[in-house]
Amino acid sequence: MFTQETYQKRRAALKNEMSSGICLFCGNNESPMNYPDNTYHFRQDSTFLYYFGMDYPGLHAAIDIDSGEEILFGDDLTIDSIVWMGAQPTLAERAVNYGITDVRPLAKLNKMLEEAQNKGRKIHYLPPYRHDNNIQLFKWLGIHPDELANQVSKEFITAVVEQRAIKSAEEITEIHKAVDITAEMHLEAMRIVRPGMTEAQVAARVHEIALAANGNISFPIIATINGQTLHNHYHGNTLKEGDLFLLDCGAETPLHYAGDMSSTIPVSKKFTERQKEIYHVALNAHESAIAALKPGVPFKEVHLSAARSIINDMKALGFMKGDTEEALAAGAHALFFPCGLGHMMGLDVHDMEDLGEVYVGYEGKAKSTQFGLKSLRLARPLKPGFVLTIEPGVYFIPELIDMWKTQGHNAAFYNFDKIEQYKDFGGIRNEEDFVITDDGYELLGKPIPKRPEDVEAMKQ
Ligand code: GLY
Ligand code: MN
Repeated sequence: MFTQETYQKRRAALKNEMSSGICLFCGNNESPMNYPDNTYHFRQDSTFLYYFGMDYPGLHAAIDIDSGEEILFGDDLTIDSIVWMGAQPTLAERAVNYGITDVRPLAKLNKMLEEAQNKGRKIHYLPPYRHDNNIQLFKWLGIHPDELANQVSKEFITAVVEQRAIKSAEEITEIHKAVDITAEMHLEAMRIVRPGMTEAQVAARVHEIALAANGNISFPIIATINGQTLHNHYHGNTLKEGDLFLLDCGAETPLHYAGDMSSTIPVSKKFTERQKEIYHVALNAHESAIAALKPGVPFKEVHLSAARSIINDMKALGFMKGDTEEALAAGAHALFFPCGLGHMMGLDVHDMEDLGEVYVGYEGKAKSTQFGLKSLRLARPLKPGFVLTIEPGVYFIPELIDMWKTQGHNAAFYNFDKIEQYKDFGGIRNEEDFVITDDGYELLGKPIPKRPEDVEAMKQ
């Protein structure tokens, strides 16, 4: 954990940003898999972790902006729980480590909220994403789950987003650790990927590295020979000569800071010439995006510089044609790059996505609806302390190729005769993590091979 001063300062900074009322923080509960006592791995809510640090189920907290009180609500273990789980420090003993001295039984929260509502005080809550907390909010506040999204506090969301978006030096140190473990996961995959292995075996090996570092994975592992499917969690294939293997995985430290990297590895000892050509398209886009990173530059512009690079390279290879800027404006690159360039990263791998992309990535402004751009999670001007991923890719998605060809969508920009020869190609993505500094950027974690010959060299 960080020192208690860190958590106290975070709460004090939040109080400064809020006008009045009560800020309610819902912690997460255990979540059953197939019967109540057989639960998924517990993951605390990230905003709760950020302000209160306490990594246990069954807790909620409130900050009274007007009185300044910071209260943790939860119940100590009963003797029955101690029999099964062993003796634990009391909540009050634990809370002190996070600078919290006011600990009350959970039942008192209901009363506090009821009294506040009776006085007409504003109760600020964040968008809930777990059904049990939806029901809890309904019981506490009388707001039907269907209505909860409409009554979230934009003031609270904005204050949290603006604070969590700027990572402190100690957070950056923690994220470096997460990305270092993540890099080890990718280096190991580069060493072991070979014909005859299954996707599941590679996924299991990299998962082990995250677990052995006393943390976990930061999101479900993508380990696939079908990299054209962006979030492919199927691990049932056997790798064979000539396949491209796409790994997208990350580790989460014990403090729950995330890493997130992608790499594309030839299953054979070397990439084929055809694979190398497309690999360079993705790599050039990656490098042009990195070169554009600096404070003040909207991340949407960084995304567009990667897209422009893809268009130019795909024109040079004969897949695309026409004017680059016109193709870019029409979103023609999205046939090959149908997603966003990257996202913020921190206590969540897609940092704060639960609070709403429009606040996290767009400062409350509307997102584009254009195919491709609508999946860009971050567009706002960059600030020092932002941590983000850079992950352009080049994908040949047969269903999308067929559809756009049939529809004639952006037809002026494509040579379908050439594109159709690549319908069995798969996809290529590399991903790295960066922090924006006062005058540019810093790579987070240990660098891993990115050039095709350096990836191949890992396999010797
Ligand atoms: N690495 C998974 C994602 O960014 O969506
Ligand atoms: Mn990512």
